[in-house]
Amino acid sequence: MNSVIPVLDPASPQAEAINNLFLQVLLISAIIFAIVAGLILLAISKGRRRQTLPDQNFGSERAEIAWAIGPVIIVIWLIAISANLVITLNAMPDVKPLEAYNVGEAQDVELIVTGHQWWWEVEYPKAGVISANEIHIPADPKRKFRILVTSDDVIHSFWVPQLGPKIDAIPGRENYLWLQASQPGIYQGRCSEYCGAQHAWMNFKVIGETEEEYQHWLAKQQQKPEPTRLLSPLAMAGREYFFKATCPRCHKVAGTSAEAMIGPDLTHFATRTEIGSGVLPNSTENLTRWLRNPQAVKPGCKMPNFKLSETNLKQLVAYLETLK
Ligand code: CUA
Repeated sequence: MNSVIPVLDPASPQAEAINNLFLQVLLISAIIFAIVAGLILLAISKGRRRQTLPDQNFGSERAEIAWAIGPVIIVIWLIAISANLVITLNAMPDVKPLEAYNVGEAQDVELIVTGHQWWWEVEYPKAGVISANEIHIPADPKRKFRILVTSDDVIHSFWVPQLGPKIDAIPGRENYLWLQASQPGIYQGRCSEYCGAQHAWMNFKVIGETEEEYQHWLAKQQQKPEPTRLLSPLAMAGREYFFKATCPRCHKVAGTSAEAMIGPDLTHFATRTEIGSGVLPNSTENLTRWLRNPQAVKPGCKMPNFKLSETNLKQLVAYLETLK
């Protein structure tokens, strides 16, 4: 995650294939440049004071063959590494007739990522888990995660520089990508296509974990939030206020009457490390700041300033922090 230039620090087979293509093309170009520039310099230095034309040499078969074979080898080399890249990156699922899918069953994908202005919805259709801005995957070079990338509003672009290519998130269209990490780690992701005022704050994280940690995380995400009898009086008051106010018109908390999907799913909000798609680290102080006036933190975001009283603020923060 702390790479200086993440694109040059590949951490998945896809990103490695891209990096290999880049470096080999760079190498070939550098060699050709050096040869051509070298010959030009040689001609300049040797021919500078010459008054007559140099020897004219027409129709050398050997030279012609050499000049033909060199480029052909280079082109075949480029075709091979490009083909390897295309095959490595291709994540299209086998096409099944639509009726082969059961009702509610997603296509053959493990993850559905939907771009919103300005955050990412993350859904694990097989496990029935929905989250936002944080994608957990098992880190294993052999485990391929096919993800479906789409958008709910405008065109975004899903990109984790260390893990592979970027792919457009287009409303009404399904694009596919392999998501893989060769080793555990946290990989920074970004929206890579200008999509409005807060495009720069449309970050996300891919958290590569061991298979065990991943399964544990998934199981925890499948649980409903704590029963209300375990809440502190402050959190309980916050919960009451949450349902009395307009929060449930935009947000979902699994197992409750809040089922709207306009804003991020809050079921396990407290387990996430950031607020507002990377704009603030998730802490009590920052959550208070966000709820006090989201427009001051992320101008233009869909959440208005509700002008909450200090009491309601404290209560809401206490409740949201129980959503683990
Ligand atoms: Cu979404 Cu830029």
